[in-house]
Amino acid sequence: MADPVPTSRPPRAELHVHLEGTLEPDLAFGLAARNGVTLPYSGPERLRAAYEFEDLQSFLDLYTAGMSALRTEADFAELTRAYLVRAVRAGVRHAEISFDPQAHLARGVPLEAVVGGIAGVLERSEADLGISTLLIAAFHRDRDSADALDVLERLLAMAAPIVGVGLDNAEAGHPPGLFEAVYARAARAGLRLTAHAGEEGPAAYVREALDVLHAERIDHGLSVVQDPDLVARVVAQQIPFTVCPVSNVRLRAVPSLAEHPLPAMMEAGMLVSIHSDDPPYFGAYVDEVDDAVTAAYGLTRDQRAALAAASFRGSFLAPARVDAYL
Ligand code: ADE
Ligand code: ZN
Repeated sequence: MADPVPTSRPPRAELHVHLEGTLEPDLAFGLAARNGVTLPYSGPERLRAAYEFEDLQSFLDLYTAGMSALRTEADFAELTRAYLVRAVRAGVRHAEISFDPQAHLARGVPLEAVVGGIAGVLERSEADLGISTLLIAAFHRDRDSADALDVLERLLAMAAPIVGVGLDNAEAGHPPGLFEAVYARAARAGLRLTAHAGEEGPAAYVREALDVLHAERIDHGLSVVQDPDLVARVVAQQIPFTVCPVSNVRLRAVPSLAEHPLPAMMEAGMLVSIHSDDPPYFGAYVDEVDDAVTAAYGLTRDQRAALAAASFRGSFLAPARVDAYL
């Protein structure tokens, strides 16, 4: 039986997690064997031992290699279910899960298999596991934006049950503004808008995500602290920032938790919440991120509760549902 959720941990929403980044090594090898795929490691322990990253790109290389195990609708369903079971144990009551449609299309996996496998589990998550869920399609910023637009049209044409769009993958040299038409199309279709910005890119990318993409939420956003005017603006507008402190240390965006801007972001009055990003790769699901951050900054019970409340406030849930969670 799963471990019970520790009662001292506040309930929270997980708003920044990449489904493909939840692939545990054991499951990766199980799926690879089932699908006749060879992973470039001799077994799960060797793969886990390779989880030492120089930067975002070195992680993305391994993340992309791991995805090769995922081929069928059943694989995506199994991955989704495994993540949700672990998330419930972490005290997550609501999860907004991103997936990377282009990564799978590029490997010849049909969009129907990807979306069908994920959505079939998500639509039953509340009834089966007591966790509400929403799905976000994230586009690769290091690919041509025309490809993202094409995939978005395909998702809309198949009535994929997505709540919104995101922007991820290698950030440096790939400013958000290139995706203006994609975000405009998503907004016209009634989708919600989030974007990775300021993970490895400058504060100007955060500003551009807000001004050009009209992003409602920023994923990471660390570099905002380099621009005091922008901080004042995101505080005034209470723009949600989904920060992943353990990920940022593991990908060397910052040298250590002690040097992470999270305390400064909280101190400034930003609507900031903490998340996992790609939990097995960084060795921390969101409960473990909470533990690490609490220890590193000596957070009070009230500060932890404020981070958890911000996770619901920053969600794409209807306001009445947010209130019900708070
Ligand atoms: N895809 C998965 N994790 C990511 C991250 N931390 N940054 C950008 N793209 C990602
Ligand atoms: Zn991310």
